[in-house]
Amino acid sequence: MIPQKDWVRDLVIYQIYPRSFFDSNGDGVGDLPGVIAKLDYLSQLGVNALWLSPFFASPNDDNGYDISDYRAILPEFGTMADCDELIRQCHARGMKFILDLVVNHSSDEHEWFRKSVKREAPYTDYYYWRDPVDGHAPNNWASCFGGSAWEFNEERGQYYLHYFSKKQPDLNWSCPALKAEIHELIRWWKARGVDGLRIDAISYLDKPADFPDAEGAPMPDGYVFPSLLTGRPGTHAYLHELNEKLFTPLNLMTVGEVSLRCDAELADYVSDERAEFDMAIPFLPPIAEYGQHVPTMLRDRLKTRYDVVPGGWWAQFMSNHDKPRQVSFFGNDGEFREVCAKALALVNHLSPGTPFVYQGEELGMTSIHLSSIDQYDDIGTHNDYRQRLLAGDSPEAAFKFAADLSRDNARTPMQWNASANAGFTTGTPWLKVNPNYVDINAEAQTSDPLSVFHFYRRLIALRGAHPALKNGDLQMLDGGNADVIAFSRTAGGETLTLAANLSDAPHAAPQGLTGEILLQSHERESGFDGVTLRPWEAVLFAAKG
Ligand code: NOJ
Ligand code: CA
Repeated sequence: MIPQKDWVRDLVIYQIYPRSFFDSNGDGVGDLPGVIAKLDYLSQLGVNALWLSPFFASPNDDNGYDISDYRAILPEFGTMADCDELIRQCHARGMKFILDLVVNHSSDEHEWFRKSVKREAPYTDYYYWRDPVDGHAPNNWASCFGGSAWEFNEERGQYYLHYFSKKQPDLNWSCPALKAEIHELIRWWKARGVDGLRIDAISYLDKPADFPDAEGAPMPDGYVFPSLLTGRPGTHAYLHELNEKLFTPLNLMTVGEVSLRCDAELADYVSDERAEFDMAIPFLPPIAEYGQHVPTMLRDRLKTRYDVVPGGWWAQFMSNHDKPRQVSFFGNDGEFREVCAKALALVNHLSPGTPFVYQGEELGMTSIHLSSIDQYDDIGTHNDYRQRLLAGDSPEAAFKFAADLSRDNARTPMQWNASANAGFTTGTPWLKVNPNYVDINAEAQTSDPLSVFHFYRRLIALRGAHPALKNGDLQMLDGGNADVIAFSRTAGGETLTLAANLSDAPHAAPQGLTGEILLQSHERESGFDGVTLRPWEAVLFAAKG
């Protein structure tokens, strides 16, 4: 297949959660000047694209994924001049700048919504407004953050739809004026220098005109998730139009965050014939991965997605701001933390597609253990806790569930050094710093050649040197044990083979591993013995011919 924009396939994308990256002015909140201050660190790591989670004006009901002005910077994060400077400095270092575009919904504090409430033209239909049915919400849909997906607005005398929180009303893409606003917005940001877009919750754009009740098992609070909302033909038509009118002509790299009912739907967003996105982030709520046998899950996912996506290209990530930390959630954040971080990194970066690194992942940062529900900030964590209580769990069990899955696990401040607050802020951090910063931090790791940081740096550098990482076919191999994942990538006369034991127990190594060892997780000990894979031992081989 011919990729639309080949430069996109050379990217290694680093995700920054600005609130928690680096605080430049001591107010406890990370900011854009803080990102600028750390660009050299990111250059050293070797990533060549940054995606920043939203930094636009927002009342922060969902930490910036509720935008009240798409053309303004949240004052806590800095100014438009800071943003321009950040884009300029990224480009000066050869890094692309990727904006997080949240246009399935806005904030209820956006002026569009306020005017829509008052039925002011042209805003009247910018959102989904419906009359009550028998004095109730128009249907039984659940909101992702709990309760009904409908909220009654007294002033307008109607319900509005909010698939996420009630402060995130869904934008009505079937309203031509709204759609034109979003198109214009994309042009505006392109003119400021952005190279790409990560597009939030984009599989829900189109809604069925009759808003039927959802079918399926209700949540403990009685509402039902509308799976019928995902990937409707109307949504694909909006996306194709965006691609034709904007993404391709403006040479914008695009990655859509998409909910899927099955892996086959991934192809609908990324295959060349559809001409929608360059790649997609398949969104799965952490509950879907909770308690799974991780090697089996990763192996099955890789195989199925590779089979269904022509050309096999999608976003490869294990962590982001919506999931617990990968070493804690998928692996071992105790005795084997360092080798586990390296093994998972190898699996992710060897898989076909674009590798993503979420801030702190390159240090092997772990999830945090907080002691009570009030210490959590995440709106989703509070909802999980409520739902589990409603389902009859004890407060202890509900808390454990909510804490294990909390998005705050990934949102604790970046651990820069061993000084107070991990060097993230001189003030009081907005969210507790993980106390393990004394041992796990960037300063210690940049000066240790065998650290997780330097492992990531070497792994990222391999991409330039081995075409199989970019263009190679994927061949799944028999790892000989359910805990062992093994596969190879071949291109240009070279085969790269990875064998990774993703467990706390030793296992026999798969047969027939040959070639030069390029990287191995157990760098501090003796090398691979050719017979046994130690716990979390992962070895990458390169063979010619
Ligand atoms: C997906 C984002 O990644 C998540 O953080 C957010 O809560 C929802 N979309 C709603 O915008
Ligand atoms: Ca700050």
